Amino acid sequence: MQDLNLFIGAFHPILVHLPIGVLIAAVLLHVLSLNSRLAGLYKAVPWLYGVAALGAVGAVISGWLLAGPLGAHWDTHRYWGLGTMVGLLLMTWLSARSASAKTSGVILGFVFMGACGWAGHLGGELTHGDGHFAQYAPTAFSKTPFVTTADEQSGELILANRDSVVVYQELIQPIFTQKCVACHRAELAHGSLRMDSYAALKKGGSEGDAIATKELWRRITLPSDHPRFMPSRGEPLSYDELLIIKSWLAAAAAAAADSMSTISDWKPEEEVIQAIARTTNLDVRELPYIDRARPPAIALDNIPEMWSIQPISQQHTTVEVKLIDVKVEPSVALTALEPFTANVTILDLRQLKNADAWLAALPPMEHLTKLDLSRSDATAASLSRLSQYPYLETVNLSGTKLDLPKEEILALIPTSVTKLYGL
Ligand code: HEC
Repeated sequence: MQDLNLFIGAFHPILVHLPIGVLIAAVLLHVLSLNSRLAGLYKAVPWLYGVAALGAVGAVISGWLLAGPLGAHWDTHRYWGLGTMVGLLLMTWLSARSASAKTSGVILGFVFMGACGWAGHLGGELTHGDGHFAQYAPTAFSKTPFVTTADEQSGELILANRDSVVVYQELIQPIFTQKCVACHRAELAHGSLRMDSYAALKKGGSEGDAIATKELWRRITLPSDHPRFMPSRGEPLSYDELLIIKSWLAAAAAAAADSMSTISDWKPEEEVIQAIARTTNLDVRELPYIDRARPPAIALDNIPEMWSIQPISQQHTTVEVKLIDVKVEPSVALTALEPFTANVTILDLRQLKNADAWLAALPPMEHLTKLDLSRSDATAASLSRLSQYPYLETVNLSGTKLDLPKEEILALIPTSVTKLYGL
């Protein structure tokens, strides 16, 4: 049914343009037949109005099918078209009833021709974009630019899980749906561009793939009084929305983001994270690894006596581990720790004796983020062992007697470490 509607709708431009010529002829003959010597022409006038009216009926029906349900912003065009149709039917009836031309009838004819012209102009704005009329006009006549107002939001920020927020669905499409889809959808795709899905954007419009060609970005960043500026009508994109779209388009164009990418895949810049917080109330900042690590939970009974082992909080399955008996042999202590190593996120080995032997024996700990070696007898020699901990962020070396220049020690510390104490 939808297809049939659009098929009939496709005849709208033909059904509109052809009868306009007939209407002009009707009004022209109507005027001429006011002159008593040309009064004979009047016979043709009702016929011409009649044909024009029939054309208008066809234009209204096809236009209605093309535009779809009422309530869209092209309703003004629709009502002017409908009014013109009623007017032309009225002209047919009136002119058929009267035997000769009257000035009042001619005036009415001009009124409905004017209405037809205005309906046509509104239709032109729909197909050629708002302000197409003013495109080449002197600036004084072109429309005043929009004033961009940032969307104001209030209320609490909701902490988002960066791995589950699908960027296109939750952040990008809602902007397009609000500001673009009215003119870029299945039933009515201006510029042959649909913006109701990621696939549609990739397919693009008459200019091709809207993402790869950067046509979309160009349109939304043109001066707002430019005839090609988008959205061509309605509220323009806010600065925050532009920031979000810019960053996402760049990622999508570089194939680093697609329809299913999450915030973690996208890795938006700090200013984009802030723009998201302002426009959506979503806090998409990256949590420190210590809050993201989720090893399987373990039972915390039978804790060996040389160790203290505590969950870092109720919500975490990771543990903070402290060596109590600092003189114990590394092999003994580490064998006792074995059932817990996968969950260690903070390891406190302060005042350790024989630290180099310890560092050489330490097993991989996937979730280790903090290591305290303060006041231990660690030397620089064993620091290179730390590179086996991918999420190690904090290392405390205060009170140690490191035997190398500072630069060489820094070179031994893995790049994941952002907080280093004691140098
Ligand atoms: C009021 C209707 C309307 C709205 C709203 C609108 N557009 Fe358009 N758009 C048009 C018309 C008409 C055209 C075709 C004429 C032209 O190319 O300027 C078009 C064409 C385009 C094109 C060119 C497509 C191609 O490949 O030729 C892009 C890109 C575009 N719009 C993006 C947008 C974006 C992004 C938004 C939302 C921020 C938007 N539009 C909102 C009416 C609209």
